[in-house]
Amino acid sequence: MQNRPAPDAGTILSIRDVHVVFDDGFEALDGVSLDIGHNEFVTLLGPSGCGKTTMLRCIGGFERPTSGQILYKGQDIIPLPPYKRAINTVFQRYALFPHLNVAQNVSFGPDLRGEDKAKTAREVGRMLDLVGLSGFEKRKIASLSGGQQQRVAIARALINDPDVLLLDEPLGALDLKLRREMQLELKRIQRESGITFVFVTHDQEEALTMSDRIAVMRAGHILQLGTPEDIYNEPQNAFVADFIGDSDIMEGLMLRDRLVRFLGCDFPCVDSGFGENAPVDVVLRPEDVKLKPADDPAADGAPEGVVESLLFKGVHYEMKVRCGESVLLVHSTHARDVGTRVKLAVAPQDIQVMRKSEASEEVLRRHAERAK
Ligand SMILES: Nc1ncnc2c1ncn2[C@@H]1O[C@H](COP(=O)(O)OP(=O)(O)OP(=O)(O)O)[C@@H](O)[C@H]1O
Ligand SMILES: [Mg+2]
Repeated sequence: MQNRPAPDAGTILSIRDVHVVFDDGFEALDGVSLDIGHNEFVTLLGPSGCGKTTMLRCIGGFERPTSGQILYKGQDIIPLPPYKRAINTVFQRYALFPHLNVAQNVSFGPDLRGEDKAKTAREVGRMLDLVGLSGFEKRKIASLSGGQQQRVAIARALINDPDVLLLDEPLGALDLKLRREMQLELKRIQRESGITFVFVTHDQEEALTMSDRIAVMRAGHILQLGTPEDIYNEPQNAFVADFIGDSDIMEGLMLRDRLVRFLGCDFPCVDSGFGENAPVDVVLRPEDVKLKPADDPAADGAPEGVVESLLFKGVHYEMKVRCGESVLLVHSTHARDVGTRVKLAVAPQDIQVMRKSEASEEVLRRHAERAK
């Protein structure tokens, strides 16, 4: 597995084989290892319950790993309480102080450290400006919307100028437009401030647009770590492919090097090294499946299907094409009417062949549901 820090940046945080087993015996983290570079934006992405918050709590000092190491600039920080770590956290439930107003919430850290009041007030103004809440200083927390509270929580963490900021779904309560704006804003803050961000989301689009690297998690461990381009273009297993973007996933048989069978047909592909007649998962992106007329002689030997549904999606049409037992999602700028018989063509380099993994069955079952 790829596990490299960002180019030209030393490692600031090193997570080594961290396990967390809760009192009831549940293993929430099952050997997580991850090196994070200075000023890197790393996102933990995965479905609900996969251990994202638990990982952040370990880094922040709110949970003690059952085993493993967490090094900050080479030093083991597991024995240190949260306030002794140069790490701030924006929690999933943002935990603002309801009895304090907005300015008092944001200045909480500097006030605790006894910093100069006038300087702090200026900083509070700057932070509120940064998160789009100028003029909200005197407002009560209870009078704010969920999205506004979330932004106060971000300002409260940023004012401490931490080396590392942990953000647990910090944009979850925002509407789509504000969420997009805050994504850009946070990305800018991160780049300009030099703060290392460890960001948690289960929104794949958010992860792809914001991160330097993404760690895709499932059931307590990292399945793939890489740049957004790596993760999108070269998913290492069906689970990652399924989680990132739309995809068609089906059973396949790697007949020999560079020849794979799926949908009842043999396709030249670019993969090798699987041996002969090896069961594999085949992943296609919907934009890579080309529909040809059923009588096109150039498509001889290609699987045949029937268009079952057609939706206009703005930039493209989304079609579902039944092909025997399978139903494939196809994106195209060219619409085909429901009921049209077509042939399916896929270029060798657009066929992703993957080894069977722990999540294959679950993912294939989910895709098979579509065909019902
Ligand atoms: N104190 C605890 N005792 C037992 N199990 C726990 C405890 N805290 C968390 N868990 C379990 O550990 C798993 C991981 O939880 P975690 O909160 O890290 O998930 P998550 O990836 O952040 O999910 P979400 O996206 O829903 O926030 C879950 O199954 C959760 O129920
Ligand atoms: Mg969580």
